[in-house]
Amino acid sequence: MARISASVYTSHVPAIGAALDLGKTQEPYWQPVFAGYEFSKQWIKSNRPDVVFLVYNDHATAFSLEMIPTFAIGTAAEYAVADEGWGPRPVPKVVGHPALAAHIAQSVIQDDFDLTIVNKMDVDHGLTVPLSLMFGALDPKTQAWPCQVIPFAVNVVQYPVPSGRRCFALGQALRKAIESFDEPLDVQVWGTGGMSHQLQGPRAGLINREWDNRFLDRLIEDPAELAQLPHIDYVREAGSEGIELVMWLIARGAMADRGVGTKPKVAHRFYHVPASNTAVGHLILEN
Ligand code: DHB
Ligand code: FE
Repeated sequence: MARISASVYTSHVPAIGAALDLGKTQEPYWQPVFAGYEFSKQWIKSNRPDVVFLVYNDHATAFSLEMIPTFAIGTAAEYAVADEGWGPRPVPKVVGHPALAAHIAQSVIQDDFDLTIVNKMDVDHGLTVPLSLMFGALDPKTQAWPCQVIPFAVNVVQYPVPSGRRCFALGQALRKAIESFDEPLDVQVWGTGGMSHQLQGPRAGLINREWDNRFLDRLIEDPAELAQLPHIDYVREAGSEGIELVMWLIARGAMADRGVGTKPKVAHRFYHVPASNTAVGHLILEN
């Protein structure tokens, strides 16, 4: 059977992708950001998953105001890297796992979560920046990502957005789905986006270190309680784009403790301000 070995949480700031792609990682501004992922790049070499179930949000790239799925699962064989205005990032295309994705869709939809099934979708910085942070820079001409990826897009861009409670419960249904797949795959679930940031309006540039660090504590220690937080609290405390953090609760819900048993092991924890307009947060939890 497939098993979930770990969950990974990280911000997905597009400027981090640009810094990597343009060879700026050692510049004084960026060096402390990338230093926080040195452990992770080593860790994933010895904990290489077969498949990453990657929870992220599309930033009006594949979807637009014409169509807004709340939860969308990628069931395709592959996904092109999106052109977000400066040409596609120079990273490998993303290879999916259609059989596992279809199995998850079957199980999770029958568990009453109404997913949208997506067979064609370009993936933006929300998905590719976390891959780059964990696997480093890869040459798309000669290299491939070291694992298959199932993209799972959550609408946190256009209101109404799903609640943290719904996301946490979805993570629990996801765990059941993955553990009932009849192949010995090592699967990691990644929750991306956040932490505090607001990109527009009078509060643009908002960062809330104290709230972010409390969020990390609560995510580790008591995610079931954290899941009760209403969406307006994210927006008030962590900025309009801080709402991306509800996606972390999907990954946390997929961990073995289901929020009540023995806590997962914290393999790595990192927090840094700033990266562009955002507070960068990063966690690795092992089952
Ligand atoms: C920034 C952060 C994001 O999460 C995003 O999607 C776009 C921009 C930023 O900090 O610049
Ligand atoms: Fe974002």
